[in-house]
Amino acid sequence: MHYCVADYVLDIAQNALEAGARNVRVEYGSAGDAIEVEVIDDGSGMSAEIRSRALDPFHTDGIKHPGRSVGLGLPFLVQGVEQAGGGWSLESRPGWGTRVSFSFPKGGLDTPPEGDLPGLFRSLLCLDGRHELVVRRRKVSQGGGAAEYMLSRGELELALGELGTGASLGLLLDYIESQERD
Ligand SMILES: Nc1ncnc2c1ncn2[C@@H]1O[C@H](COP(=O)(O)OP(=O)(O)O)[C@@H](O)[C@H]1O
Ligand SMILES: [Mg+2]
Repeated sequence: MHYCVADYVLDIAQNALEAGARNVRVEYGSAGDAIEVEVIDDGSGMSAEIRSRALDPFHTDGIKHPGRSVGLGLPFLVQGVEQAGGGWSLESRPGWGTRVSFSFPKGGLDTPPEGDLPGLFRSLLCLDGRHELVVRRRKVSQGGGAAEYMLSRGELELALGELGTGASLGLLLDYIESQERD
């Protein structure tokens, strides 16, 4: 199975929600010569012990994802990033939350494809729960300059109604794709 950068991002954001986050911020930038991602949450955070267990590829609780077809998680992210010559960091404190940052060199031999970014952002915005999730996307504009846009789950819900239902799914994707084209 070949993973895309998008798969890693979705997995890390899922961790944030599983940790009870009320606010998740996903930064996705590819304006420079690296793909830079940051996922920040205000969930439970991790103690030093949980943190080192979380990075151990041989540890899994086996409960959370009994039927999951793709198993990623932090160790796989670290492995993929290091193999590609990228960088990563994990900051986490109980009661404060967690910040996972990672980067891949753009066009690197072992850098995975980015994947379907509008589809990723839509999936992120439609993740189940009663949290706020914000995507900040930095990219190169059509004109070649740096551009950015933001997507807020709360604001989009006000405009489109409940995300993840038939009609709003299509509208949401149209909107994200229009932002991506600018
Ligand atoms: N954002 C986060 N906040 C709090 N704990 C986290 C977070 N991300 C990961 N963890 C902890 O690290 C563990 C391992 O995460 P992961 O590698 O994604 O595997 P899994 O989600 O299948 O347990 C989680 O079970 C959780 O205890
Ligand atoms: Mg996980």
